[in-house]
Amino acid sequence: MCGIVAYLGKKNALEFLIEGLKILEYRGYDSAGIAVLNENSSNYNLEKSAGKLVNLINLVENKDIKGHLGIGHTRWATHGVANNANAHPHISNDNKIILVHNGIINNYLELKRKLKEEHNINFYSDTDSEVIANLISVYFKECASIKTAVIRAKEEIKGSYALCVISPEDPDKIILTSKEAPLIIGLGEDDELYCASDSSALLKYCKQMIRLKDYEVAELKKGGKFEILDANNNLVKQPNIQILDHDPLHLDKQGYKHYLLKEIYEQAAILRKLFETHFNKDLNITFPNLNTKIFEGINKILIIACGSAYYAGLAGKTFIESLANIQVDIEFASEFITKKNLLVDDKTLLIAVSQSGETADTLSAIKLALKKNVRLIAINNRPESTLASLSKDSCIFTQAGVEVSVAATKSFLAQMFCFFCLALYLAEIKSPEKKEALKKIKLQLHLQPQIIEQILARAEVYKQKILPFAEKKAFIFLGRGINYITALEGALKLKEITYIQATAYPAGEMKHGPIATLDHDVPVISILTNGDVYDKTVHNVMEAKTRGAPNIAILNDGNDELDKEIDVILRVPVNYEEESEFYDLLSPFVGVVPFQLIAYYLAEYMGKDIDQPRNLAKSVTVE
Ligand code: AGP
Ligand code: GLU
Repeated sequence: MCGIVAYLGKKNALEFLIEGLKILEYRGYDSAGIAVLNENSSNYNLEKSAGKLVNLINLVENKDIKGHLGIGHTRWATHGVANNANAHPHISNDNKIILVHNGIINNYLELKRKLKEEHNINFYSDTDSEVIANLISVYFKECASIKTAVIRAKEEIKGSYALCVISPEDPDKIILTSKEAPLIIGLGEDDELYCASDSSALLKYCKQMIRLKDYEVAELKKGGKFEILDANNNLVKQPNIQILDHDPLHLDKQGYKHYLLKEIYEQAAILRKLFETHFNKDLNITFPNLNTKIFEGINKILIIACGSAYYAGLAGKTFIESLANIQVDIEFASEFITKKNLLVDDKTLLIAVSQSGETADTLSAIKLALKKNVRLIAINNRPESTLASLSKDSCIFTQAGVEVSVAATKSFLAQMFCFFCLALYLAEIKSPEKKEALKKIKLQLHLQPQIIEQILARAEVYKQKILPFAEKKAFIFLGRGINYITALEGALKLKEITYIQATAYPAGEMKHGPIATLDHDVPVISILTNGDVYDKTVHNVMEAKTRGAPNIAILNDGNDELDKEIDVILRVPVNYEEESEFYDLLSPFVGVVPFQLIAYYLAEYMGKDIDQPRNLAKSVTVE
């Protein structure tokens, strides 16, 4: 989960370490640290600080830290609370091994006990990472080579790891190894070597990169030299050097108070761009990075994803089933990997959805499924990610630009949009005679960006309507059919950035149990936009109202029949031109935007850390 950076070159290492950590802070932000080896001596600086990166920056600001080799880390705690002692880098008892670690060591307790009993080693943190530092130091004593010590330690550790290891005893080297956690070597100018857990930190500095494969060990040396050993410790003669040609990340809020708000406001433009990418002037659908032969002869579609991407997948399932008349299964990636029997084969089309392309659960699920020869399509926002490299010529890029705020907003809408295109495409190849009829819905899809802009213009109205609810401890979100997905995403946004308990139910399920929790202090928010499910959802909302729950609802402009029944109405424009067979399928595109905005305004009013909410991280690289 964490961000890792490392540098070995001619410049002062600290500069890149801090700049790189700033870019990676969104991956984990409960503490941060750096270690820099001093020139021509066995001295080093090791500085760490609990809390946001700014604390570390303040700490190192007035110190004279000089050296051409260093490592850095922003942590997302798995083992041990977020305090100074648990922050990385960790150093071995004998001060000879310093490392940063991303991941989880499953057998750390057993190793810790052994190190205590057999080598008298004391531990000063609760982390699994400190155990590895000491394990490596035990082997370093025996073999006097950090590389060999790391190789021996990797044979013993179980779990997931990206490790950057240095030693004041051998101050010209950085040793790297990884398993199920991304680690990238960046090749800079002037014999500089960089390393990061996410290529976004390298974009400004490197034109080429090498992604470390599972169990590989790399040794970075002075003068830009490096060598990589494969899983069997044989030299990799021709490492796969990839070009890094993406634009450097510009972290700029562009005048918005938070990235989240900026990203909400970018949504209309992103959908416009996606429309241009996927439709030509005759409204024929194209996928520039997808070999459409992949669809030939499939007999099953399975979607896997986590979090908001999973909810976009649920929308995808509804789109494909409704438009193309093909049954679709969907699984949480973290559940899929627990299955004793994976019911997939070479005729299964696996659609993996991920904004970051680095989510460990999703990547593990894909790797398992690929062993069964499934055909993989990735709906992904990051062309330089692990997911993009796994799916090569079968990617649908969401083109949302880097999403900095931890809560997904623009990526969710973009994922749904890509699914909609896919559903239309599958509908056309399955039933070419429908093509003309589907044109209507394509035109409706084309309308969505301008409707979203109209909704955004009402942000202030939504804000004033929702603030009176800021003291509530819980909310219930209700929706039927496709609108249940909007409810799920709305509840997740509220939970993530306000920390208020929020649960989404399919509206018809309320009466089967959750209705018992209703009282005057639990507002019910429902989606009552026009469509097939409208009437029945209204009944469910009335059932909640009868039990004293304050009610808030999203309704279309022009529908005033509930004006006296609903306490607070959030209005959205009608997002279709005429009622055709599938006119209400597009309702999540407009329904979710007011939910994003009300979550934002409540969180802002409550003074929450909107872009980096507590306990979360943008890229979840542990299972
Ligand atoms: C969304 O707001 C969340 N922060 C989270 O659920 C996220 O969608 C999930 O972790 C999946 O991430 P991914 O899209 O990068 O794979
Ligand atoms: N498991 C390690 C810890 O808790 C690493 C966490 C991370 O990836 O940030 O310190």
